[in-house]
Amino acid sequence: MSASAKSTRPVSAKSPVSAKPPMSAKSPVSGKSPAPAPAKSTISAPPSTAYKIVDVPEVHRDTIQRYGVPGTFVGPSEQESPWVPFGDKAALRHLAFDVRRNTFSNILWIKSAGVIGTHKHRGTVVMICLEGSARYLEYDWVAGPGDFIYETPGLIHTLVSDHPQGVKLFGWLEGPTEFYDDKGNFVETLDVWWYINHYETYCRAHGIPINKQLYL
Ligand SMILES: [Fe+2]
Repeated sequence: MSASAKSTRPVSAKSPVSAKPPMSAKSPVSGKSPAPAPAKSTISAPPSTAYKIVDVPEVHRDTIQRYGVPGTFVGPSEQESPWVPFGDKAALRHLAFDVRRNTFSNILWIKSAGVIGTHKHRGTVVMICLEGSARYLEYDWVAGPGDFIYETPGLIHTLVSDHPQGVKLFGWLEGPTEFYDDKGNFVETLDVWWYINHYETYCRAHGIPINKQLYL
């Protein structure tokens, strides 16, 4: 975007966030009218399209270098993260474990029409359907490719795929999930420790190196 393309908000426009008094109000300290607020620009797209690394100011650069945590990357190969069986008809591809927040990420693959039994979430779940379709028996929608799912703590549901090719769901999950049998009896809690053990046990059994990129 060129500099001339930047839009500016009129000085008289009220900010939806600021709770400052009107421009004409007298300062309770000096008794003088405050200086007019500078015009604020509002970008509609990132201002630079330069195809290069740009050095930007960062007042806490040294502290970030000392205490900041690098990001991670997991490629598509089985060596980087294998499909680990999750029952007979499903598998999990683990992507991230955060033991500080009991947070974890994976792709759930139900390989054909099938069920992931009734469970209760104790944290928030974000999912995007990648392939196939899935729904919860308790709800009235069906998620297809690209659809976004957001679940909140305390919800109880039963995940099914009626699609002949099943479903792949990318998930970002917080907190434990409690699984129940078909009579409503509690069976087991799956949390970040369970998911780490699920991944590492399979890797050890199949000679796959533990990928440290999965550990946030
Ligand atoms: Fe769920």
